[in-house]
Amino acid sequence: MRIGKHEVPYPLIQGGMAVRVSGYRLAGNVARCGGIGLVATAGIGLNTPRFKGDNYFAAEPLALKDELAKAYEIAPDGVIGTNCMVAVTDYAELVKASCEGGAKLIVSGAGLPMNLPELTADWPDVALVPIVSSVKAAELITRKWHKSYGRLPDAVVVEDPDTAGGHLGEKLEKIGTGEYDQYATVRGVKAYLRETWKLDVPVIAAGGIWDRADFENAMAQGADGVQMGTRFVCTEECDADDAFKQAYMNCSKEDIGLIMSPAGLPGRALVSNVPAIREHDLEMTPTCPTGCLRKCTYKSEQERFCIVHALDRAQRGDMETGLVFCGSNAWKATRIETVQGIFDEFFHDEAARAVCG
Ligand SMILES: Cc1cc2nc3c(=O)[nH]c(=O)nc-3n(C[C@H](O)[C@H](O)[C@H](O)COP(=O)(O)O)c2cc1C
Repeated sequence: MRIGKHEVPYPLIQGGMAVRVSGYRLAGNVARCGGIGLVATAGIGLNTPRFKGDNYFAAEPLALKDELAKAYEIAPDGVIGTNCMVAVTDYAELVKASCEGGAKLIVSGAGLPMNLPELTADWPDVALVPIVSSVKAAELITRKWHKSYGRLPDAVVVEDPDTAGGHLGEKLEKIGTGEYDQYATVRGVKAYLRETWKLDVPVIAAGGIWDRADFENAMAQGADGVQMGTRFVCTEECDADDAFKQAYMNCSKEDIGLIMSPAGLPGRALVSNVPAIREHDLEMTPTCPTGCLRKCTYKSEQERFCIVHALDRAQRGDMETGLVFCGSNAWKATRIETVQGIFDEFFHDEAARAVCG
C-alpha cells in the first residue's frame, strides 16, 4: 500500500490510541512488521519526564518527538506516523511536532481536519490522511483542501461508528441503529474521489476488523486497506499497562458501551466504572487541570469527567477510575499475543499474499 510517498508491504494501519496506548513500542513494532504504526498524540506528555505538573502544553510536543525517536529506533526504515485529534487545544502544535519529529503521515479526525495542509505546508512529504464517517465529510475536507491549499488527501480512513473504539464521529442516537453502512461509505468515498478528482488513493476501513476473515471481507467489499485498534491492545508491545490489557481479556459484550465524552462526541468504552470516574473527577479535581480540549463540558460546566486524565489513569493501570476505550470486539481478546503473530495470521502465506495483491 502506498500513501503519498510512503509504501508499506501490508495494507494495515495500527490506529492511533490515546492516551499512550499506542506509544512508541506499539507503533515501532507495527512498522517493523511491515504495517503503518501510529503514535497517538493526545495527552502524550502526561506521565513522561517532560511533564512537570504545570507545563502540559510545553511538554506535549517535546514528549511526542521523544516518542517518535524511540519508535524509529525499533523500525529505522519503517512507516511511522501520528494520530492528531482536531478537538484538542494544541492540535496545531502536535501536528507541527509530528512533522519535526519525522512522522511520515498524519492521520487526523475527532473533528474535520480542515486546516491540516496549512499546518504541514513546510513538510510536503508528510502524507495527510483524514478520518471520516461519511461521504459528506470526505467531500467537505477534499473541497476545502483543494480550494485553499491546492492539496488532496493522500488516503482516507473511513471509521465505522458502530464498531470502532474511542471517539466516534456520529450522533449518539444514530449509533447502532443499523442505519450506517460501513462498506457503502468506503465505496462512496472511493467513487467520489475517483469521479470528482480523478484521485485513486487508498480508502481504508476502520472499525470491527479483528481477524483475517474480517480483513479479507474488508478488502472484498472495496477497501484498499484496514486500520485496526482493538486487536493490537492485547499484544506484548502495546504501551498500556497489563491491567488495561487484562480488562479487555476479562470483559464481556455487555461491558462494552457508549459514553458521551466531555469533548461532545460519543465514544466506545468499557462502561461499568464510568460512574466511579465521574465521582472521582468531580470530587477530587473539581476544576479543569489543563484545558486540553478546545470544547469540553468538564472545563466549561464541570460535567462528566476529565477525559485526558481518565484515559491516562487507565493507561497506567488504574481500572477503578481510568477510562478504557475499546472497540466492539474487545470481548474477543483471550490472550496476550505479539504484533508479529498478528501479521503472520493476516499475511504470511500464499493465500494472504493474493489478497494483498
Ligand atoms: C483504546 C483506544 C484509543 C483510541 N484513541 C484514539 C485516538 O486518540 N484518536 C483517534 O483518532 N482514534 C482513536 N481510537 C480509534 C482507533 O484509532 C481505531 O480507528 C479504531 O479503534 C478501529 O476500530 P477497532 O478498534 O474495532 O479496530 C482509539 C481506539 C481505542 C481502542
